[in-house]
Amino acid sequence: MSTMKAAVVRSFTDELEIADLPVPEPGPHEALVRVEYSGVCHTDLHAARGDWPVKPVPPFVPGHEGAGTVVAVGDRVTRVHVGDRVGNAWLWSACGECEYCQTGWETLCPNQRNGGYAVDGSFGQFMLVDARYCPRIPDGVDLAAAAPILCAGVTVYKGLKVTDTKPGEWVLVSGIGGLGHIAVQYAVAMGRRVAAIDVDDAKLALARKHGAEVVVNATTSDDPAGELQAATGGGVHGAIVTAVNAHAFPQAVGALRRGGTVSLVGLPPESFPLDIFTTVLFGLTIRGSIVGTRKDMAEALDFFARGKVDPTFTVRPMADINDIFHEMEEGHIDGRVVMDMA
Ligand SMILES: NC(=O)c1ccc[n+]([C@@H]2O[C@H](COP(=O)([O-])OP(=O)(O)OC[C@H]3O[C@@H](n4cnc5c(N)ncnc54)[C@H](O)[C@@H]3O)[C@@H](O)[C@H]2O)c1
Ligand SMILES: [Zn+2]
Ligand SMILES: [Zn+2]
Repeated sequence: MSTMKAAVVRSFTDELEIADLPVPEPGPHEALVRVEYSGVCHTDLHAARGDWPVKPVPPFVPGHEGAGTVVAVGDRVTRVHVGDRVGNAWLWSACGECEYCQTGWETLCPNQRNGGYAVDGSFGQFMLVDARYCPRIPDGVDLAAAAPILCAGVTVYKGLKVTDTKPGEWVLVSGIGGLGHIAVQYAVAMGRRVAAIDVDDAKLALARKHGAEVVVNATTSDDPAGELQAATGGGVHGAIVTAVNAHAFPQAVGALRRGGTVSLVGLPPESFPLDIFTTVLFGLTIRGSIVGTRKDMAEALDFFARGKVDPTFTVRPMADINDIFHEMEEGHIDGRVVMDMA
């Protein structure tokens, strides 16, 4: 039996352990992938710490932004072949049969399995994917740069779509981390005008670099929502909140124009107060948005392959995973960290 190195969560309180695990064998619909790069998403940190009400069961291998090459396929696989470049995703698989799967909402499938959560993920040198669901990486693109698209990219692309904004309208991106800095780029590519809010001037500089016209620092502004209202001539038409702090959510609601929509994407395990009177009289829409479908993923990858979005990232070895998580907790990461798994 051959083995591989992987970063393993043994408990929600211990550091991850770099361990030798058996290389898994693909089932009938699965492909075995040699992982070359894996992005590190804040969701992996929530998973490793057991932050959410539905917890993964240790031991497990996190990671749902893995990009690599197919090295073996199960006997029912037709969609991918040995040598193809594919990735894993949070939506690792879905049932294909429920009312959500049948109506274009496979992301809501109650029988879905999640990469790096219910199924071992991309923080290992090999991973399994369901060949019916795995994203295909377009030819010619850099695999390390493609990795952040597999969660951060598709998530913000879908989150922006469901703001129901139009080209020329204002969109607020709240939280300019791994997701947010890519959201700024998709929003610009989709013809929206972008305002950005974060608690860190370095993050806001990154937002400006990627095309944000208005930036607000939530810690130094006396009235962040009012400032955004004024700078956008009456409020943003849409907002996407990727921040990991519950205070960011009512601020984004407060920045909305009448009739505006906010997509909640960030997942701090908390609640926030919602003013009923304003929500009703201004006809606001508050909605959640979770990753994207296979079609959203293909579209998000296509924007990337055409050079419309270009993640800012740093390549680090897998051995750094605990340091990377600590830096993420402190908000010290610029864009995304992508681990070199080879
Ligand atoms: N809904 C989904 O489908 C989905 C998909 C992926 C990730 N997520 C979640 O999105 C969140 C962000 O993930 P990430 O990988 O981008 O994390 P990240 O750590 O890279 O970025 C978080 C950003 O939030 C900023 N921030 C912190 N407090 C803030 C505040 N009060 N106001 C504004 N900004 C603030 C930080 O400075 C940082 O730039 C996580 O909770 C993650 O689990 C959700
Ligand atoms: Zn993610
Ligand atoms: Zn289903």
